[in-house]
Amino acid sequence: MSPSTLERTTGLARSTVDRVTATLARMGYVRLDGRDAVLTLRLMELGNAYLAALRRPALLNARADALADALDESVSLAVRDRDGIHFVHQATRRRAMSLGFRIGELLPAERTAPGPLFATEWTDEDWRHWHERRPADPENRSFPAVPPAPPAPAGDFEERTPRAAREGWASDDQLIEPGLVAVSVPVRYPADGTIACVASVVSHTSRHSAEDLRTTLLVGTRLPAHATALGRAPTAADPLGSALADEELEEGLRPIAVPLLDRTGRRVAAVNIAMHAARHTREECTDTLLAALRHTATRIEADLHMASHFTRVPLT
Ligand code: PHB
Repeated sequence: MSPSTLERTTGLARSTVDRVTATLARMGYVRLDGRDAVLTLRLMELGNAYLAALRRPALLNARADALADALDESVSLAVRDRDGIHFVHQATRRRAMSLGFRIGELLPAERTAPGPLFATEWTDEDWRHWHERRPADPENRSFPAVPPAPPAPAGDFEERTPRAAREGWASDDQLIEPGLVAVSVPVRYPADGTIACVASVVSHTSRHSAEDLRTTLLVGTRLPAHATALGRAPTAADPLGSALADEELEEGLRPIAVPLLDRTGRRVAAVNIAMHAARHTREECTDTLLAALRHTATRIEADLHMASHFTRVPLT
C-alpha cells in the first residue's frame, strides 16, 4: 500500500503513517518496496499469538474437526469482534461456497449465522455502533472478505437476535453468499454461561436447506421415545431402569439401554446397544449384554460425577 492509501484508510496524518510504517518495517512486520509498505509473513506471529492466548482453538479444534468428519460438511468456530465475527478455526470438508472464508477474516454480524447469537450479548454501545455502520456502509464495503451485500430488509437483524436468544441457535440462509447455508450454536463458558465462541455447520443449498441443516445435521434424528430403548430407559418400570425395545422401532432391531444418573441420582441420559435380533437371543441380551452395559454406564457416571463436582456439565 502506498503512504497516501494508508493515510486515507487509517485516517492518520502522513507523519504518523511514515513513523508507524518505519517502526513496523524495523520489526519485520512490513517490507518497504519503494515507497509502498508490503505485509510480511512474520505478521502471522501476531495472529498465532492471539489464537494461542485465546485457547479456544486448542480446546475445541479437534471436536470441530470430528464433527466435520461425522457430518461430511464444513464446520467453523467464530469469536466476536464488536459488531463483526472472526473465524478462529475452519474445518473445510466440502466446498460450500465460491469464496472460502479464512481464519482471522472479519465478517459483518448481520450477514452470518453466529452474528445474532453474539448480538444477544451486545451492549447498548455495540448496538449504537452497528446502527451507525449500517447506513454508512450498507453494502459492507468495509469488510473486504465478503461480497457486497444487497440492501438487507430493515429490522431483520434486530428480529433474528431475540429469536436466537429464545431458540439457542441461528441460521444464515444465503445472507453472505448465494447458495451458502449455515446453522450455528453457541459454546458457553461453564462458569457463567456467557458465549466463548460459536460453532457453525456450513453447507450448500444443493445439499441442504437452512431448515433441514438444523434438523438433520445439528440436532440429529428425533425418534419417538416410547419406541426406543434409549427413550424408555429413563422411565422404565424396571427398578434398575433397563429397557429392551424388542423389534418395536424396526423389524430385526433389538436395542437395549440403561439410564445414566447424575450426582443427585437424577436420570439425565441413557446408553444404548443396538443390535440385530438375529445376533443374540432376548435372554442373552438381558443376561450378558445388560451386565456389560451397566458396567460401562457406571464408569461414565463416575466420570460425570467427577467432572461435575465443581462445574456444571451441560448435557445438551
Ligand atoms: C463459514 O464459512 O464457516 C461460515 C460462513 C457463513 C456463516 C457461518 C459460517 O454464516
